[in-house]
Amino acid sequence: MGWVAMPQLVAATSNAGAFGFLALATAGPQEAIEMIDETMSLTNKPFGVNFHMFQPGADKIVQAILDKKIKAVSYSRSPTPDYIKAFKEQGIICIPTVGALKHAIKAEQLGADALVIQGSEGGGHTGSTPTTLLLSSVLEHVDIPVVAAGGFRDGSGLAASLAWGACGIAMGTRFMMTQESPVPGKTKKAYISAEVDEIKITKKFDGLSHRLIFNKYIKKIDRSNPISLFLMSVTSAWKYKQITKASFGDLLKSFFAMLKGDDLTISQSIMSANSPAIIQKAMVEGSPNEGAMPSGQVAGIIKNLPSCKELIDQIMEEFCIAAKNFKKIEEKS
Ligand SMILES: Cc1cc2nc3c(=O)[nH]c(=O)nc-3n(C[C@H](O)[C@H](O)[C@H](O)COP(=O)(O)O)c2cc1C
Repeated sequence: MGWVAMPQLVAATSNAGAFGFLALATAGPQEAIEMIDETMSLTNKPFGVNFHMFQPGADKIVQAILDKKIKAVSYSRSPTPDYIKAFKEQGIICIPTVGALKHAIKAEQLGADALVIQGSEGGGHTGSTPTTLLLSSVLEHVDIPVVAAGGFRDGSGLAASLAWGACGIAMGTRFMMTQESPVPGKTKKAYISAEVDEIKITKKFDGLSHRLIFNKYIKKIDRSNPISLFLMSVTSAWKYKQITKASFGDLLKSFFAMLKGDDLTISQSIMSANSPAIIQKAMVEGSPNEGAMPSGQVAGIIKNLPSCKELIDQIMEEFCIAAKNFKKIEEKS
């Protein structure tokens, strides 16, 4: 989780008995190395890192992962087979996140050791298949361990996913809504207030299928027509002083294309270039109404901010109760 799964949250997660993943996909190579070092200074427990091959300086991040003997890597856009081979030769576990069956099959072919399947309930960029359906179909088609993600918050969810055949659960939103999460208090409050039906998917924010809290700002983007989206993207580019690759000529060309009802490529690429700054506005600067809040729908049924230790202890307690209930059912049958 970009700007959320920072060293303090990852270390607290691993220290509490889970396995944290450090968000490096939104970091430059030097910052990524510093974040790894900081996490290592806060925990001696294992943790993994998340990155993707299209980010600037990805090669240097891969080298740092190898040098620092990170335990596991998570990615959505796969590294090349050479890199996967290098990770595996060093015993680094490759656990990509996938949102569709065909990506799960491909990831296994490319050498993944395990998979995280993220159902459409999950936060951030997400697919269209609900977690239970994706989990069932992926389990039928792959032979590697599968971790279920998208919509989990407690021990009953863990028990249910194990009963389904998963080997565990991964949670993003639930950990974002903890004491150790670096997200500013005002933004955490906005997550607590959000209802399940206000956390929806739009493609208009950055051109990809993105699940976010529909605050005023995102609602406006989602309702936009080609011309208003273009105007919003330009205003936003100006406001956040982001440098886009689109020249004045490109913008004019796009504007006339849109007048004729053509595609939104330039607007969407301007929006996409601005999206990190817009997300940071909420997640780092603490202005939830002016920024974007990626979120799983599960935020709609989370109403507290425990510490990571309280959360993990509670999950294990609930899991043991669920396991005992399974045992009772087994004894009766
Ligand atoms: C704020 C936020 C940011 C996220 N950023 C990333 C990311 O940078 N890379 C990634 O692979 N997944 C990202 N995700 C998805 C999570 O890693 C995880 O798969 C997802 O949150 C699971 O669903 P849940 O939110 O229902 O727990 C993000 C999720 C959230 C809520």
